[in-house]
Amino acid sequence: METIRVKDRDFAPFIDSPVIQEAVERVAAEIERDYKDKCPLFLVLLNGAFIFAADLLRCFRHPCNISFIKVASYSGTSSTQDVKVLIGLNEDLKGRHVVILEDIIDTGITMENILGQLAAQNPAEIRIATLLFKKDAFLKDFPIDYIGIQIPTDFIVGYGLDYDGFGRNQPHIYKITASKL
Ligand code: IMP
Ligand code: MG
Repeated sequence: METIRVKDRDFAPFIDSPVIQEAVERVAAEIERDYKDKCPLFLVLLNGAFIFAADLLRCFRHPCNISFIKVASYSGTSSTQDVKVLIGLNEDLKGRHVVILEDIIDTGITMENILGQLAAQNPAEIRIATLLFKKDAFLKDFPIDYIGIQIPTDFIVGYGLDYDGFGRNQPHIYKITASKL
């Protein structure tokens, strides 16, 4: 594997595709074990989790439902604070066993916000599966039920993750390098 250029930055090889697949299969097996008889509703967090979800869900062999959600930012009219709203959720969550599929949890701020909005709909349970977890950057205390790979606090791209909209299509995961231009 070689260093790649994404937009205007260089990224060095970090996690090879077979290592990612191994982690995805392990997480899928853990979820399968826990949800055999529960018919989970998987909520895939777009855009980043689309490849993780596609690979993971092909390993999940029991009945389930799959839906896609997205966080949209609206600039508040009276404050500088952005309002983050969940869009795309068409399912009734009441009594459902929800499993959120996310690409990466960094500070946890995004996920905490999503958890709050989903919990308001009275699901039976909400669990979180994330491919990547930046443990040292995590500021929250909600449990993360399924973790693929723990990584240091570096910026990464590939396997669904982007740098300014680019790099999502890379099959491997790359880490940003210090060099600029
Ligand atoms: P958090 O709210 O700090 O946990 O950030 C979560 C979101 O930030 C993720 O869903 C990603 O979209 C994005 N993100 C965090 N770290 C990275 C990274 O290293 N590369 C690409 N996107 C990232
Ligand atoms: Mg994301």
